[in-house]
Amino acid sequence: MREDTLDYFLNALGALFRTRRIFPPGQRQVRLAARQAAQRLSVWGGPIRITLLGDEAIIEEQRLEILPSSFKALFQSLLESGCERVHIEADASAADLMDWIDHLVSRRKGPYRNPKIVAGRLSLEKPSLCSPTPLQAVPALLGLLAHTQESISDLESKKPEGLVRAQEIVRAIASRLALSKEIFDPIRELKDFDQYTFTHALNVSTLSSSLARVARFPAEMVNTIALAALCHDLGKSQLPHDILIKGDILDPDEKAAMEKHPVYGVRLLLDTPGVESENPLLPVVAYQHHIGANHSGYPKVPAALSSHKLHPASLIVAVADIYDALRTVRPYRPAMSVAKSCSILLQEAMSGKLDRGYVSLFLTLIGVLAPGRSVVLSDGTRTVILRTNANDPLTPVVEREDGDAQDLSLLSNLSIQEVKDETA
Ligand SMILES: [Fe+2]
Ligand SMILES: [Fe+2]
Repeated sequence: MREDTLDYFLNALGALFRTRRIFPPGQRQVRLAARQAAQRLSVWGGPIRITLLGDEAIIEEQRLEILPSSFKALFQSLLESGCERVHIEADASAADLMDWIDHLVSRRKGPYRNPKIVAGRLSLEKPSLCSPTPLQAVPALLGLLAHTQESISDLESKKPEGLVRAQEIVRAIASRLALSKEIFDPIRELKDFDQYTFTHALNVSTLSSSLARVARFPAEMVNTIALAALCHDLGKSQLPHDILIKGDILDPDEKAAMEKHPVYGVRLLLDTPGVESENPLLPVVAYQHHIGANHSGYPKVPAALSSHKLHPASLIVAVADIYDALRTVRPYRPAMSVAKSCSILLQEAMSGKLDRGYVSLFLTLIGVLAPGRSVVLSDGTRTVILRTNANDPLTPVVEREDGDAQDLSLLSNLSIQEVKDETA
């Protein structure tokens, strides 16, 4: 019954949007539709929060994969205007709703805010400073530092000055967790459920925040990305354990189940008190981290949203996620070398699945694009990096075996395809 009431409101809101697109503001038809929507809202009786994630809308407690047809045009327009989040107070009036819909229909860019309705991007607002809760969680988290350090020790040995110390990062995450105890519970459950997934989450968090730092995101954003990375695979706790440990050799049904983990993660995070209001980036990264910069991954992005760009935090976490997975020993395969893992990142960047800019920064961060490194070009020739290119690290000056130097920034048909373990 209560869900019906919500559907009635969404339908009425959709009708207001359609009517306003046909008639100018202030027309009788528009006023009637606005009054109808405001009345439906008062029957619902509470505030309404709408979050748009790809083709899924999360409206209050309902996750609507199939939207009411009358709401679809409004949903599309919200996405096109850059809105990913709307909050409507229970007592928003017909005039408030009309003003907001006017804003949308007239395609004004940027967020919308009146005292009763706020619409805009999933922002990265600073969390409200509730009093820190003394947490047993923090020492537990710091106790896992050894794993994090171990996994990035190879990176640190190559270029220590370019990396943020693992300890600093985990401390930052821990202090963040101290502000929001509720977030820690699902993470702790994940640890109990599968140690690999938990350690992987810590590693991805460390690598992502290092990458975000060298990408010059503000410190607050670096911490938020660290936390979002820590939570990126939470949805895996909803999968059967035997699927998790099978890795890359899944049958089609198991693969389909595995590909649900981003959606499960969003649901879990949105069910966690405080996440939606204080850490809205967390469900975004959980949802987007396998989509791919070119939308070639999963969950599938509908054709109508093909121009929709992923959040930079999701692009960063995707790079760290793939790298850590390749560098870790799994029951079904050994860990790959740094060079082999980096070569795969390069291929994924060239195919468009990973963001080229973040892959380039990452390879610089871990020191594999330094002078003296052997690299194979896309024409199969083996070369050695002579000079790096600060503007575009993926196009350094290289020396071929016959002694010729080539500046890859001037040769658009040639790129680095593979990184070799050895240096000259
Ligand atoms: Fe994942
Ligand atoms: Fe992952």
